[in-house]
Amino acid sequence: MSEQRFFRFLQQRIGLDVESVGASMVERALRQRRLAAGAADMDDYWVQLQQSAHEQQALIEAVIVPETWFFRYPETFTALLGLAQKRVAELAGQRPLRLLSLPCSTGEEPYSLAMALLDGGLAPSDFHIDGIDISPSSIGKGVQGVYSRNSFRGAELGFRERHFRECQEGHQLDERVRRQVHLQVGNVLDPALASRNGLYDFVFCRNLLIYFDVPTQQRVFEVLKCLAQPQGVLFIGPAEGSLLARLGMRPVGIAQSFAYVRQPHEAAAAQPVAARSVPPALAPIRPRALPTRPLRAGAPAPMASAAEPREGESELLASIARQANAGDSAQARASCQRYLRQFPAKAQVYYWLGLLSDTEGDTQQAVSHYRKALYLQPQHPEALLHLASLLAAQGDAAGARRLQERAARAGRESER
Ligand SMILES: C[S@@+](CC[C@H](N)C(=O)[O-])C[C@H]1O[C@@H](n2cnc3c(N)ncnc32)[C@H](O)[C@@H]1O
Repeated sequence: MSEQRFFRFLQQRIGLDVESVGASMVERALRQRRLAAGAADMDDYWVQLQQSAHEQQALIEAVIVPETWFFRYPETFTALLGLAQKRVAELAGQRPLRLLSLPCSTGEEPYSLAMALLDGGLAPSDFHIDGIDISPSSIGKGVQGVYSRNSFRGAELGFRERHFRECQEGHQLDERVRRQVHLQVGNVLDPALASRNGLYDFVFCRNLLIYFDVPTQQRVFEVLKCLAQPQGVLFIGPAEGSLLARLGMRPVGIAQSFAYVRQPHEAAAAQPVAARSVPPALAPIRPRALPTRPLRAGAPAPMASAAEPREGESELLASIARQANAGDSAQARASCQRYLRQFPAKAQVYYWLGLLSDTEGDTQQAVSHYRKALYLQPQHPEALLHLASLLAAQGDAAGARRLQERAARAGRESER
């Protein structure tokens, strides 16, 4: 089909795997751009595209997914605050902390980082945040710092009272927060990014890799690893973890944070991936008060929902969460198995088992556990996303997309 050359262009230029957003969406964008450019047909549009940097940018703008909002995955910000406080103490004023949000879209993510750190007691001079995105129009909106309702989701909106003032178009972000953040246009595939290697203490790359094919994901992970300091922490989206585990990164061990650090070199080299266990968490983390959800001991499975918790059940669930968070995978797994012997099957327990297998590189087991979780609770959001990511890594892009769509629907329903 003639559109293939456009798909290849997008793949090479921004890494987009057309399958991830659906060929029909990209075809629609192509038709719109062809009309807007006044091209007679697709061949004519192809020629124009080759000759015009402006048209290339317009096409890119038409296919990107800029979806974002403030404090997306709130647990991450709590985890960041704990880690950042520790790092600021270690740096003892030698230099400010450096954070990167790539892609930052219209700025909600880097500004949320700034608000979390300021609210957590860090001084403005303690940190600086860079935000990079391929879309000049998104960066332009971010620089303006005016946001509509769509950027404020969920129930915890106290930050809006603290850091915004109402204006005609929505809410204007305070200068005090904006000053902490520098937004600029850039491409994660641009080799010039290498000039920043080793610069960042914390790198956020969330909800970008899901749009890339596996070789591009691998390439980008290498870039991100290099951008972070050797002890730096990489935060990714919930559906993007399994590949990282295979690339020598390990979870920091904070629940729902989706935060990874480099595997100590010797450990990575000495052990086959499948034999690795989840390592212990970093030093204890006691973040100061940020709005946070309770540690998820899991939504009840359908068959258990009507019943009162049985004796010892909540304690066992809490200890599984504790052990998993602390990186004690052997104990966590044993506790999951004990749970399944003593109580009716529960989706969250199978999800945890999946996560433990996933982190240890045992993909087959992970897939089987995630499927059991979804059998018990078809809308379990994390099981959907993690299974989608495993299917994508195995080349089943269509299966992965179906699960991602299911997860997105479940997310929308729960937000409503
Ligand atoms: C779904 S948003 C994610 C924003 C934010 N990180 C979040 O999780 O809410 C994806 C963003 O990736 C950007 N993007 C796509 N390809 C890119 C590339 N090659 N380099 C940098 N940014 C890219 C898009 O412009 C879009 O704003």
